[in-house]
Amino acid sequence: MVKYNFPKYEVELELDDDVYFPAEDTFFLLDLVDIPNDTKKIVEIGSGSGIISIVLAKNNPEIQFLISDISFSATKAIKQNLRLNNIGNLVDIVCMDKLEAIHNLKSDIIIWNPPYLPDGEEEDTMSPLNKLMLVGGKKGYEETFTMLDSLQKNKISTIFYTIFSSLSWSDEDIQDLKKEGMNLEIKNQLSLFFEKLYLVKIDFCERNEKL
Ligand SMILES: C[S@@+](CC[C@H](N)C(=O)[O-])C[C@H]1O[C@@H](n2cnc3c(N)ncnc32)[C@H](O)[C@@H]1O
Repeated sequence: MVKYNFPKYEVELELDDDVYFPAEDTFFLLDLVDIPNDTKKIVEIGSGSGIISIVLAKNNPEIQFLISDISFSATKAIKQNLRLNNIGNLVDIVCMDKLEAIHNLKSDIIIWNPPYLPDGEEEDTMSPLNKLMLVGGKKGYEETFTMLDSLQKNKISTIFYTIFSSLSWSDEDIQDLKKEGMNLEIKNQLSLFFEKLYLVKIDFCERNEKL
């Protein structure tokens, strides 16, 4: 494990190369997620190094956090990084696929910086672990879509923050979600060398409370 310092966020992380190293997408989400004062619980899916929840938990010690990752290496790293930042007692960690092990999910906010690359030819050379971190399905958005569908079907009242990439989501796909009644807002966008990232906020509260 190598130790890295992130002075802007006043956190230290110990990471191996089998865990997603915080990148532009991580900081884009972390910097722009809005945490209202009355927030009691936050759930983060696919936390990787844990940096997003670690920073948010350090700044909001009154909020309860539950974080997941499908990768056991990531959940081990998260546990270590929570200890390193002295917040082991504020955050629960579960190694699971999305939120599948949770019954009666209640959370004011759910955050997921998902794997969002489409499964293309160059991905054939990726290790299975890298694929898990980066590839979201044949088109790239399938993993995110499954989560959205589950939140809708299970009538979970929450605010969901995620990232869409222009490599996987087209404008038409986004319009289709809106036509299906999703209260979806693109809060910001970030142009990178080869793609555009969109910070997406979906409000499931009103719709699922009415159903
Ligand atoms: C793009 S990385 C983001 C990591 C971290 N949240 C960040 O922003 O730096 C995606 C993360 O999601 C995890 N992941 C992929 N599929 C998952 C699933 N089905 N359920 C939970 N976590 C998953 C990966 O292991 C990886 O850590």
